[in-house]
Amino acid sequence: MVKHEVFRSLSTSDFRQKLLAWYKTYRRELPWRANCDPYHIWISEIMLQQTRVAAVIEHYHEFFRRFPTVEKLARARESSVLAAWSGLGYYRRARMLHAAAKTIVRQRGGALPDRAEEWLDLPGIGRYTAAAIASIAFDEPVAVVDGNVERVLQRVSGKTLTREQLWNAAQHLLDVEHSGDFNQAMMELGATVCTPRAPACLTCPIVDLCATRGETETNKSIPQKKREIRYSLACRDDHGRGREVFLVRRPRNASLMAGMWELPEILSQNGTVKPSFTVRHSITVTDYTVRVWQNGSAADANGSWFATRKLKTIALTGLARKILRKAGVL
Ligand code: ADE
Repeated sequence: MVKHEVFRSLSTSDFRQKLLAWYKTYRRELPWRANCDPYHIWISEIMLQQTRVAAVIEHYHEFFRRFPTVEKLARARESSVLAAWSGLGYYRRARMLHAAAKTIVRQRGGALPDRAEEWLDLPGIGRYTAAAIASIAFDEPVAVVDGNVERVLQRVSGKTLTREQLWNAAQHLLDVEHSGDFNQAMMELGATVCTPRAPACLTCPIVDLCATRGETETNKSIPQKKREIRYSLACRDDHGRGREVFLVRRPRNASLMAGMWELPEILSQNGTVKPSFTVRHSITVTDYTVRVWQNGSAADANGSWFATRKLKTIALTGLARKILRKAGVL
């Protein structure tokens, strides 16, 4: 047994064997696990960052239908990449992804890198993503640390580990013969068993190797801010050719979701007229109560009418898409 500063008495071979056996039986069948193609793995890893698995599944197949190869992605207009990304949030990631596709085509003739170190040179690729792609697609023996893995490591070790200790501990545990599966198994355990609030220790494959069995409180929940926003939803009939909806474009230099389309916001207060409906929306640390008035005004200089059947092809914000769905427009 190789001693390690963090896991003094843990048998790494026991840990690896138990974790991998569990993963083989209990892993979720997710679309990106169907093959090890690096283009698919890359896109899925970017989509999965800070986005729910269910939302990623909704967008995954459509993305590859539109951009089946890195060349197609590189050649696409930014607006169509953002349109395919609509609903996944964090649009900067989509812009970086597009920039990386262009670099891969221009500088590497369309060949995706096979080593983590080379991935790190591309826009939008950090230490986690580089290691995830290289290990899952090419079995390079590099460990990953994301939020889930971090929680597993803190609990198994029973220690509060620094960032560098986390990467070091993950690399120490990694099964270098099965790097891709091992990394995914660690993330899967954190996502489905070793969950933040109520870890399912009774079903955990490595519970007898764990120093805390879920005792450490790793996720002190951050209090959410509350805000209300009001939008106007205006629809009209396009001379019998179909329905149209009025949308406005966010400023090109906006810090969030620049250049994307949304409903016009109502800034003036009118307390007497009741909203047509309300939706809830959470973005990072803010919970929004979103009130929508139908038959609203279409007087905005940055606005345009869009045929509702074309809405799939424009870059809508996630919230606009949610409202239009609720109103039966999408
Ligand atoms: N989170 C991000 N990528 C993942 C993967 N490949 N498996 C499990 N969880 C993940």
